[in-house]
Amino acid sequence: MAHNPLAPEWLSSPADANTLTDALWPSSARRTDGGAITIGGVTAVDLAARFGTPLYVIDETDARTRATELRAAFDAEFARIGTTVRVYYAAKAFLSTEVARWMVDAGLNIDVCSGGELAVALAAGVAPGRIGFHGNNKSRAEIDDATRVGVGTIIIDSPIEIERVAEAAGRHGLVQNVRLRVNSGVHAHTHEFLATSHEDQKFGVVFEDAPALVAAIRAQPSLNFLGLHCHIGSQIFGVDGFAESASRLLSLQADLLAGGPVPELNLGGGFGIAYTSVDDPSPVADLAAALADIVADECARRGIPVPVIAIEPGRVIIGPAGVTLYEVGTTKPVRIGENTRLYVSVDGGMSDNARPALYGAEYSVRIADRVSDAAPALVRVAGKHCESGDIVVDADYLPGDVAPGDLLMVPATGAYCWSLASNYNYVGRPAVVAVVHGEARVIVRGETIDDLLARDAGVSTRSTSEAGSTNDMKESTR
Ligand SMILES: Cc1ncc(COP(=O)(O)O)c(C=O)c1O
Repeated sequence: MAHNPLAPEWLSSPADANTLTDALWPSSARRTDGGAITIGGVTAVDLAARFGTPLYVIDETDARTRATELRAAFDAEFARIGTTVRVYYAAKAFLSTEVARWMVDAGLNIDVCSGGELAVALAAGVAPGRIGFHGNNKSRAEIDDATRVGVGTIIIDSPIEIERVAEAAGRHGLVQNVRLRVNSGVHAHTHEFLATSHEDQKFGVVFEDAPALVAAIRAQPSLNFLGLHCHIGSQIFGVDGFAESASRLLSLQADLLAGGPVPELNLGGGFGIAYTSVDDPSPVADLAAALADIVADECARRGIPVPVIAIEPGRVIIGPAGVTLYEVGTTKPVRIGENTRLYVSVDGGMSDNARPALYGAEYSVRIADRVSDAAPALVRVAGKHCESGDIVVDADYLPGDVAPGDLLMVPATGAYCWSLASNYNYVGRPAVVAVVHGEARVIVRGETIDDLLARDAGVSTRSTSEAGSTNDMKESTR
């Protein structure tokens, strides 16, 4: 099949547009003899019949295994250089009480960045001491709640927060552990990074200001300075950006040690995953080994003790464990000159996956209820929203006979899809179902029309039967 000039350069027409590329899919994903995709032992056909579409599906074993293996890899590599690691799961990627418990079971801590995320983590039974609290504009009420319940650490993001956190902790009669988020001047995305002397962004404090701010923290009797924090970006494939940032932070660490202890260093999150067949992120074990080497070398060079290391990965744990299931509503060939792109519209879109519209993020797609011998056709999977940028998959190849009624699955949607979901066009947010050992269960129910109307002060009570559904989801998901 010839390359369609409308396709991006990196995308070539596959020999078989039914193949599931391992790196993109949850580890349990495969096709049944009948051709349907099955995740966690449950077929796409059964999931759609029982829960409706669109539907977020998380392979529980896959998510738990990624968390466990990541922690084991970092534990082993940092033990090799004589220290320990605290792994915080970045809850912004995806948070529900179940998922928080899976992460704690795997020995992880939880990083939250709002009162809402804190409430979910606490509702999951996460011990407050295992929680780190982030945010560039934590409200006074959020700071008060976080200190009162006893969160393990608060990450101070601006000079103004030093007094706010100190005051709240003092009022509750306790000493609060804090980190200071600094801008190392390193900004990374995928395989490139930019190193500048200053960063023009809302998070963290200016690198050169850190010594004075640490002194201010140390002067507060109700604060205990744990160390520096830095997050250089997301969806990072290599180690070079982390290496440059760690080097800068450890030079600062060496200076700060003159004024008192600096027991920890938090290197943030950002480890990348594959969304398309050409994405090639570093394996977690390689990242762990490389980061441990960098930290050991930089500490040795400066003659300082190796601190306890903290990291905050989100996407790399939950992203590949999740898929989204849609049903095709319409297909439409659009001729552009000599070439054709087949638009395939599904029953969700930017309300359940905002990343393509927000960041131009790329995804992949497969027909989920059957295989087909039809020649591959270049498709663009569009959503149902009133926005031309409402694209789920900008470009991929599907069997050319893809048709209304087919189920589609988009892999690697576990991170930053449900958590960024909206009600645009009053479309209800889909349910989240966990699959494991051939069983599927709802871990977050989908929104009904009643849910959507409930917040409108002008609407009087309606019964569920009158309300119908927002997007053909079955009752069992609500
Ligand atoms: C401070 C901080 N930590 C951790 C993360 C998690 O990043 P990722 O999910 O890419 O690992 C983010 C993401 O934006 C972040 O801002």
